Amino acid sequence: MALRLGDEAPNFTIETTEGTINFHEYLGNSWGILFSHPKDYTPVCTTELGYVSKIKNEFDKRNVKILALSVDPLESHKGWTKDINETQNTTVNYPIIADPERKVSNLYDMIHPNANETFTVRSVFIVGPDKKIKLTLTYPASTGRNFQEILRVIDSLQLTSSYSVATPANWNYGEDCIVVPALSDDDANKKFPKGFRKIKPYLRYTAQPNI
Ligand code: BEZ
Repeated sequence: MALRLGDEAPNFTIETTEGTINFHEYLGNSWGILFSHPKDYTPVCTTELGYVSKIKNEFDKRNVKILALSVDPLESHKGWTKDINETQNTTVNYPIIADPERKVSNLYDMIHPNANETFTVRSVFIVGPDKKIKLTLTYPASTGRNFQEILRVIDSLQLTSSYSVATPANWNYGEDCIVVPALSDDDANKKFPKGFRKIKPYLRYTAQPNI
């Protein structure tokens, strides 16, 4: 069955471009992003892996460990990485899983046979420090992902895991948040010293609480 939000992220031990990795040990107490690519030496994947290496500092700032996956073998990844570095003007700086036996791909349901029998789709799993799955995304092979959106979701996940807020449509870091409906007005006054705006009993805004 497909993995769902709140499920434990299944553990695995696998070869990567940076040696053998045990997923849970690799994550430690950090957040994690595990994302799959259909195939080595393909154009969209090349741009995605290059872009992620350029914004790795954004994942580091948020305490998120990066782990990519492609079903091709290690030797193929090594050659392809050179191409990514050359064409995207970067240095790939995070591990890429080699999964020719589809061990992780099957564990995480990354192969959708009606889309393609053998290649993984573009899956994204965000895992929390508790090893639970916080976000899943599935993109088709033909569409490169928006990694700024993924950083935005991580900001929301990290904020809402610590404060009694949710984030509205198109929210970005620093903007007003929504007071969770479960909180009474009295408790909201205590939790949010800057106050809140009440549009409806269920629609209350407050300044982002951690800045
Ligand atoms: C790509 O990464 O460019 C790609 C991979 C598989 C199918 C289509 C595009």
